[in-house]
Amino acid sequence: MKKLENIAVLAGDGIGPEVMAQGIKALKAIEDKYNHKFVLTEGLMGGIAIDKTGDPLPEDTLEKAMAADAVLLGAIGTPKYADPTLKVRPEQGLLGLRKALGLYANIRPIKAYDKLVGLSPIKNDRIKGADFIIYRELIGGIYFGDSGRNADNTMAFDTMTYQKFEIERIAHAAFKTAMSRRKELCLVDKANVLESSRFWRETVDIVAREYPEVNLSYLYIDNATMQVILNPTRFDVVLTANLFGDILSDEASVIGGSLGLLPSASIGEERCLFEPVHGSYPEGAGKDIANPTAMILSVAMMFEHFGLHQEAKDIQDAIETCMEKSIMTSDLGPEVAYSCSQFGDIVESLILGEEIKVNSVQQANSSII
Ligand code: IPM
Ligand code: MN
Repeated sequence: MKKLENIAVLAGDGIGPEVMAQGIKALKAIEDKYNHKFVLTEGLMGGIAIDKTGDPLPEDTLEKAMAADAVLLGAIGTPKYADPTLKVRPEQGLLGLRKALGLYANIRPIKAYDKLVGLSPIKNDRIKGADFIIYRELIGGIYFGDSGRNADNTMAFDTMTYQKFEIERIAHAAFKTAMSRRKELCLVDKANVLESSRFWRETVDIVAREYPEVNLSYLYIDNATMQVILNPTRFDVVLTANLFGDILSDEASVIGGSLGLLPSASIGEERCLFEPVHGSYPEGAGKDIANPTAMILSVAMMFEHFGLHQEAKDIQDAIETCMEKSIMTSDLGPEVAYSCSQFGDIVESLILGEEIKVNSVQQANSSII
């Protein structure tokens, strides 16, 4: 297994830098505790990179990302570049980075934490115990297919193209994960309409022969969006194409009670990137109110990916301890809200086994509520 040493840190826009700072606190706490040495290299990405260089993914950033063992990304997107008709947009940086790093598998774990089920708008008895992982194909399909308009601008098109190897490699990744979990894999597609979906089924069926213990099921995307809300505990590993996975994972985030809780990993043959599922939340930027949980858990996913299991578990345990003690940021609506940086400090203390002075922190913070 590759060693984790060099990490490219792309904080990005909006709340990106604030949540990243908390992720780095957790990372440094792990570094101290286990005597690791990580070299962090910062790079510009997204709207801030457009402001400073005219390019959402400057060459220098791409080089840093390519040279690193792993990339940590905060969030991208600013109101200034929100107009989807603009020629240069932050999203292009993210899509370009995913493609350049070959990150074909986007892994998004969805979990209803016992302590938080009450926060979800979905009836608690439906979501209690929900724990599944979405495997979203990330560098193919309609996101990267041919697109354009005709000469007199009366027609536009985007195409969903998938090659066999693109389906096989993510299918293997998803089946392997299913083997280490409850051995259930659900392929989500639109095979009743789309040829590319029929091709997915055909290809995944063949890959499935190598994993006879895994029970493979199929759902159409329209039905899947309903099942994710009605019956989320039925899912273990969900495998799906790029656009379907994008939609399904935002929807599934409702189960956890806040988008601020969901981490993600994007994995390729050689490279990997870890980022929260949430966006840059520009309204919250600079206010120290963002929930850094998704970013901190993304750091844990990075450790997990490099086989640093205890390190990952320490972070996850620290986050769960916070939930149990109702140490929460304002998005989760606790009686007393902690700021983003206070939350990061507490997670750091928990990782290091230091005592946390919950009461004094609460008091210090009560004035901002
Ligand atoms: C995501 C985001 C991106 C996507 C955008 C920002 C391009 O929504 O990571 O889910 O569509 O993949
Ligand atoms: Mn999305």
